[in-house]
Amino acid sequence: MYAKFHSIGAYVPSKVLSNADLEKMVDTSDEWILKRTGIRERRIAGDSEVTSDMATKASKIAIERAGLRNSDIDLIVCATITPDYFNMPSTACIIADKLGIKNVQAFDISAACSGFVYALSVAKAFVESGMKRHVLIIGAEKFSSIVNYEDRTTCILFGDGAGASIISATDNKSEAIIDINASADGSYSDFLVTPAPGSVNPLSQKVLDEGLNFVQMKGNETFKLAVKTLTKDVKKILIDNNIDAKDIPHFVPHQANYRIIKAVGSALKMSSEQVVVTVDKYGNTSAASIPMAINDIYESGRLKRGELMLLDTFGGGLTWASAILPFAGETP
Ligand code: UT7
Repeated sequence: MYAKFHSIGAYVPSKVLSNADLEKMVDTSDEWILKRTGIRERRIAGDSEVTSDMATKASKIAIERAGLRNSDIDLIVCATITPDYFNMPSTACIIADKLGIKNVQAFDISAACSGFVYALSVAKAFVESGMKRHVLIIGAEKFSSIVNYEDRTTCILFGDGAGASIISATDNKSEAIIDINASADGSYSDFLVTPAPGSVNPLSQKVLDEGLNFVQMKGNETFKLAVKTLTKDVKKILIDNNIDAKDIPHFVPHQANYRIIKAVGSALKMSSEQVVVTVDKYGNTSAASIPMAINDIYESGRLKRGELMLLDTFGGGLTWASAILPFAGETP
C-alpha cells in the first residue's frame, strides 16, 4: 500500500494588512520590509474567526476536490501552533465537529512552520501501514493571535490562513509520495519561542505585563541557520532519491523570507519558474504556508497531475523537513 497526495485546498482571510498599514503601527517602512523579507502584505483573520474556522473551510475544499464525502475521512491531523485552545480540546477535534465527522481519530501536532510536512509524514505512515485510507491533514494558523503588534522585528512577518490536503491509499506506485525527511534540534529551542502560557510560565499577571504570550524570535540567527539547514536538507533528499533539481517543476519552500527562498533556490540552481513564491502576498503563515502555496499553483493552473513537488520547511523547535512527491489529484 502506498500513500498519495490526493488533493489540496486553502482558505485566506479577506482582511489585508499592508506594509503601509504597519508603517502607522511601528517604526518601520515599506522599503525595509520589502528589501529584507519580500513581503508586501499579509492576511489577518477577523476577530471572531478562529483557527478551526479557517481550517474547516480549507478542509471542505480539499475533501471535495478529492471526490470524497466527509464521512470517508478516517483520520484528521491538524498542524498548528495557534490552536483554538492551548491545552484542550485539540483543534482537530473541533474541525471534525465542524465538518460533521463522527467517530474519527483526530489530533494536533506542534512543529511550528514545519507542521504541515510533519503531518504529511504522519499521514503517509498511517496509510502505508494500512491503518487508515483517507487522512485529512491541515496546516492552519491564526498567527496574529500571538503577535505583538508593537514589536517591529516580528509583526511585519506573520499572517493568518489555512491549507488542507487529503492523503489517500493507492496501490499505484507511480502516484505515491516518494520520500519525506523530518528532523529537529531542540538545542535551538530559544530561537523561536512563545514563552507562555505553559508549564514553564503558567498564565499570570507577570506573563501579561511582560507580554510573554507573544512570539519571540532571534531573527538573524534563525535566518542564517535556515539557509544552511534547508540547503543541506533539500540537496540530501534529492541525492537520496536520485532526482536532479532541474527535474522538479515545483519547488515549494516554506514562505518565511524571500531572501531565504532565493538563497536555497540558487544553491539548487533552480529557475524562477520552478520556485513557488507567495510570501509577498501572505507573509509567513507558519504551518499553513506550504499548503497555501501549493493551492496557489493549483488554482492558477500551474500544477498538473503527476508533476513533482519538492517541499522544504524550517521553523521553531527547531524543526525542519523536506518531501518529494507527485501531485496525484485531478487538475481543473
Ligand atoms: O518561519 C520560521 C523561520 N523564520 C525565519 O526563517 C525568519 C528568519 N529571519 C528573518 O527573516 C530576518 O532575520 C528578519 C527579516 C526577521 C530580519 O532581517 P535581518 O536582515 O536579519 O535584520 P536584523 O535582525 O539583523 O536587523 C537589522 C536592523 C537592526 O537595526 P540596527 O541594529 O542595525 O540598527 C534592526 O533593529 O534592522 C532593524 N530592524 C528593523 N528596521 C525597520 C528590525 N526590524 C525592523 C523593521 N523595520 N521591521
